[in-house]
Amino acid sequence: MCGIFGCASKQGNAAKVIHAALKRLEYRGYDSVGEATLSEGKLFIKKDSGKIDEVHEKLNLDDLPGNLGIGHTRWATHGAPLQVNAHPHIDCEEQIAVVHNGIIENYALVKKELEDKGHVFRSKTDTEVIVHLIEELVKQQNLTLVEAVAEALKALEGSYAIAVISTLEPDKIICARNESPLVVGVGENAVYCASDIPAFLPLTNKAVVIEDGELVIITNDGYEIQKIADLRLVKREPKIIDWTPEMAEKRGYPHFMLKEIHEQPLALRNTLRLQEHYLELMTTFLDRAKEVFLVACGTSYHACLAASYMFSKLAYRATYPIIASEFAEQHGKSVNIESTILAVSQSGETADTLAAVEAARHRAATILGLTNVIGSTLTRVSRVYICQQSGPEIGVAATKTFTAQLCVLAQLALRLAKKRGKVSQDEIDFLEEKLEQIPNIVENVIVKQEDKIKQLARKYKDKREFFFLGRGISTATALEGRLKLMEIAYVPAIAYPAGESKHGPISLVEPGFPVVFVCPPDETRKAVIGNIMEMKARGASIIAIIEEGDEEIKNLAEDFIEVDKGIPDILSPIPYVIPLQLFAYYMAVERSHDPDKPRNLAKSVTVK
Ligand code: AGP
Repeated sequence: MCGIFGCASKQGNAAKVIHAALKRLEYRGYDSVGEATLSEGKLFIKKDSGKIDEVHEKLNLDDLPGNLGIGHTRWATHGAPLQVNAHPHIDCEEQIAVVHNGIIENYALVKKELEDKGHVFRSKTDTEVIVHLIEELVKQQNLTLVEAVAEALKALEGSYAIAVISTLEPDKIICARNESPLVVGVGENAVYCASDIPAFLPLTNKAVVIEDGELVIITNDGYEIQKIADLRLVKREPKIIDWTPEMAEKRGYPHFMLKEIHEQPLALRNTLRLQEHYLELMTTFLDRAKEVFLVACGTSYHACLAASYMFSKLAYRATYPIIASEFAEQHGKSVNIESTILAVSQSGETADTLAAVEAARHRAATILGLTNVIGSTLTRVSRVYICQQSGPEIGVAATKTFTAQLCVLAQLALRLAKKRGKVSQDEIDFLEEKLEQIPNIVENVIVKQEDKIKQLARKYKDKREFFFLGRGISTATALEGRLKLMEIAYVPAIAYPAGESKHGPISLVEPGFPVVFVCPPDETRKAVIGNIMEMKARGASIIAIIEEGDEEIKNLAEDFIEVDKGIPDILSPIPYVIPLQLFAYYMAVERSHDPDKPRNLAKSVTVK
C-alpha cells in the first residue's frame, strides 16, 4: 500500500502542496518518497529512499518549479527501498512521469516486450512498465496522453491507482484506478487526486470517489471522468466530506484496526499476486530441506501452526512450528546444515524471531523469510524471502497481516504438493479456485456477519473469561481468536485443541461460561460436536463459528456466526478468523478500550 497524490493549481508552487499531502499519506507507506513537477516544458524530479522528513531534509521537496505535479510515498513490494526504485518513474525520453499504488501482475512479460523494443529500465519495480508502455503508445501510435494511458492500462493486469503527467500535455494530470483507492479533491484554485481523502482534506472537503475501471483528466479548473475501456464520459458530482483529518486517515472508520479488518479482501487479492519466481524458489528449498522449522511469535506463530497442517495434509511435508523465544532452548543443539528455518514476521524486526534465526544461522541452517516489510532485518538475513504485500498495518493487533501470511503459506503448501505429486490435478484446480475466491469469501463474512458480531460483543461484554476451542487446523484459528480478545479487550482467555478439555481445563467450566468453538465442516467436526456436548452438559454458553446452514450445530449453540459454504479445511483459518477479529474489536469498544493502542503492547517487539 503506497500513497499517491497529484495537484493541478492555478497558481503557486505545487511541490509544497504535494509534500504536505504526502506527509498526510505517510501512514500508507514510508520507505521512500518522491515528487515530479512540470515547468516550462520540462520535468523536475526529486526522490529518494527514506522517510519523508529525511528525504526533505536532504533534497528539499518544496523546491521544485511549476504549479502542476505528482508525488508518492512508498511501501515497497517489488524492488528494495532504494532511490532508483522510488517513484515517480519516468520514460526513456524523460517526458512522462508516473506514480502508482498497487501491483502489476504481468509486469515481467510487458517489461520484456518493451526491452525488446529498446526501452531501457532503471528500476526493479513493476511500476516502471506503466510509463514505458505509455511512452511506446504515444510515440508509435501517435496517441494522446489520455488515449495512451487507457490503452496501457488495458494491457496491464493487477491493481493500480496511478497519476501521470507529461511535458507533451503539461496542463493535465491523468489518473486512473483498479482496486487501489483513488479520490479527486475539487478546490477553488486547484484540483487534486489522491489515494485517500486526508491528503487534500485541509485544502478542500469536496471529494469525488473514483470507481474501478475509470480514469480522470484533471486540470487546474476541473476534472473529467471517463471509462478506461472506451473513454465514455462519466458524470459524478463531488460530495462534501464532513470528517476530521484524523477520521479521514482511517477513511471514516473509528479505528485503524477496524479499517484493516475491512481491508483484508484487498490485501488478500494483493497477496495472491506474489511474484512467481520467489514462490517457486522458496518451494524448492522447502522440498529439499531435511527438516523445516516454522519460527515466529504471537499471531505469526499461529500462522505457522496453521501452516504445519497445510504442509502436512497437502504436501506430506512435516514442519515444526516453534515459538521463536523457545527455539534456541528446544532445538539450538540439534539444528544443523540440513535444517531449514522459515521465519515468519510481519514486521521483520521481532527480536525473538531474529534471535532464533541468528542461532540457526550459526549452525549453518538455511534461512527463509516471510514478512510484510521489504528492507527489514529478516529480509537481509534470509536466503530467500517473500513479501506478503499487505501494506502497512497501523493497528497494534495483527489482522490483515495474519490472513495474508496464511494466504502465502497456503500457496507454498499447494506448490509443494504439486512439486511432490501429492495432489491430483482436480484437487489442485479446486484448491486454486478456492484460493482465488478467498478475498470474496472474507468480504462476505464481514458484510453478512459484522452487525451480528457487534450484538454478540454487547451480550458477552461483561464475561470475565472465555475458552476458544478448535481441532486440527482450527486450533490455530482458536489460538488467534483468543490472542485478539486478550490483547485488545483485556479479557483473560484460554485456547487449546478441543480434545484436551477432559484433560484438565474443563474444570473451569460452570453455567454461563462462554466457550467459542471454531468448527468448519472438516473431518474434525464430529469430534468437535462431542466437545460441544461436553461443555453444554456443564452449562457452558456455546458460541460457534460454523459453515452456513450447519443446522446441527446451530441447534446446540447459544449463538453462532456463519461462514460461506465449501471452504477447504486447509484454507478455513482465513475466513473463520474474521468473526473472531471482529468479536475482539467490538468487545474492546464495548469495554471502552482503544483497540489501536492496547496497553503494554508494541506493534513490533524489538526487545527480547
Ligand atoms: C499480534 O496481534 C501481536 N501484535 C503480536 O503477537 C505479533 O504478532 C508478534 O509480536 C509478532 O510480530 P511480527 O509478526 O512482526 O514478528
